[in-house]
Amino acid sequence: MITIFSTTNRKDSYTNKVANIYFSILKEKNIQSQVLDFQKLPIDFLFSNAFGNTTNDFDSIVNKHLLNVDKFIFICPEYNGSIPGVLKSFIDCTNPKLYKSKKVSLVGLSSGRAGNLRGLDHLTSILHYLGSEVLSFKPIFSRIHESFQGDELINAQYLKEVNNHIDSFNGF
Ligand SMILES: Cc1cc2nc3c(=O)[nH]c(=O)nc-3n(C[C@H](O)[C@H](O)[C@H](O)COP(=O)(O)O)c2cc1C
Repeated sequence: MITIFSTTNRKDSYTNKVANIYFSILKEKNIQSQVLDFQKLPIDFLFSNAFGNTTNDFDSIVNKHLLNVDKFIFICPEYNGSIPGVLKSFIDCTNPKLYKSKKVSLVGLSSGRAGNLRGLDHLTSILHYLGSEVLSFKPIFSRIHESFQGDELINAQYLKEVNNHIDSFNGF
């Protein structure tokens, strides 16, 4: 089982479209996965689940998507030159042991040119600190809004990259 983290709470985000494409292609390749859409996190999780506090709704999301899952894919948009604050908040509200020795892969996207290259470096540092193994192949998708028609990824090069990335992560 792989958990695909759709790491923004922005409604109708491109991040979530990319996460769903990963889910579909993994399914075609007979690889089980599930999407954790940050739009669906409890709105007060940052205050109600920090510093040792827990709530049942957040706990059950964390248990389902992190506890007995050994592979993670983070789809990560560029927000102000880095990862979205909600992603760092999510990590800060979960048990650091949940990331240890997990095999993790990162995908960056942005409306600008960088494709969140910097943010993926930042996230790699955080995950290495937590003991995750991060795959070095990290696709970055720039000018993402030009690559979709509705929910369809129409950029053939990006689609090929997603396929290659999944094959590479499968052998990781
Ligand atoms: C708070 C915020 C900050 C952003 N900062 C950047 C940025 O630094 N560089 C960039 O290229 N795009 C930036 N964007 C635009 C996103 O890259 C764009 O929304 C893109 O579609 C990916 O994010 P999405 O999943 O929210 O759609 C920002 C968007 C938001 C909401």
